[in-house]
Amino acid sequence: MKHFLQMQDLGLEEYEYLFRRTRWIKDKFKRYERYWPLLDRTLVMIFEKASTRTRLSFEAGMHQLGGSAIYLNTRDSQLGRGEPVEDAAQVISRMSDIVMIRTFEQEIVERFAGHSRVPVINGLTNEYHPCQILADIYTFIEHRGPIRGKTVAWIGDSNNVCNTWLQAAEIFDFNVHVSTPPGYEVEPERAGLYGTDHYEEFTDPMEAARDADLVTTDVWTSMGFEAEDEERRRDFQDWQVDAEMMALAQSDAVFMHCLPAHRGEEVAAEVIDGPQSVVWDEAENRLHAQKALMEYLLLGRLEQAE
Ligand code: CP
Ligand code: NVA
Repeated sequence: MKHFLQMQDLGLEEYEYLFRRTRWIKDKFKRYERYWPLLDRTLVMIFEKASTRTRLSFEAGMHQLGGSAIYLNTRDSQLGRGEPVEDAAQVISRMSDIVMIRTFEQEIVERFAGHSRVPVINGLTNEYHPCQILADIYTFIEHRGPIRGKTVAWIGDSNNVCNTWLQAAEIFDFNVHVSTPPGYEVEPERAGLYGTDHYEEFTDPMEAARDADLVTTDVWTSMGFEAEDEERRRDFQDWQVDAEMMALAQSDAVFMHCLPAHRGEEVAAEVIDGPQSVVWDEAENRLHAQKALMEYLLLGRLEQAE
């Protein structure tokens, strides 16, 4: 049994398989062809933080694969009232086939997975957001071809999404140029990296964007860090992706953002709403990539169906 708790949980060859399946599942969906490999399977989705895309893509995705999805949150379940994660994992995994969790510390999803009878997917933790980068890399490949050897510019906070890009760079062999304000630099151990070969840090965000094939950013204040909001607004003022910054990247560079975005903060409207932005494809691909992921975790390889 496999879990998907961080990028490193799967290898390059498995990602290549998942991207082939994503393409196949997406094409079928676009042709309105029914595909129900997960008939009678149940996904439980546990949310300890807010979500639009992750909930929608997992819930719609499971229905489209023939299964059903149940939504639990900490406000109106026993999860918010101190039931041990290990006990919740035992019970939930006896009544379902696959579980997705969005929570705070990575340790929580790891403890859950350690006591689960079924595959567990990380739907975002403070440390990682692997489903996002799965869809992002698929989106890059769809628009520009292989990502190996390319340069991704990360502008802003070294948060969960940044850490996941850094893990992906080691697996897919591309480079990340990271620029964070002072005091918000990458923590390689927290990012779960094997080394420092696949990224470079820049004090000047403009220099990080120079010649990049993909420029990406995220909110200045992630969920769970709201208490730091005021301070972060001051610290991140110069870390905005605008047209001037995009002009330094490759002329065919794409812009990505996991969303939700704050125009006028981490990104200028002219960029996110401009011709280089692929954010709507990126958001849609969450659906297709996660359908491929759930199919793989539950049924293994289906090469014959490709
Ligand atoms: N990108 C992303 O995970 O969005 P949600 O917070 O809306 O799920
Ligand atoms: N870094 C953001 C991503 C939201 C999808 C957060 O954790 O809030």
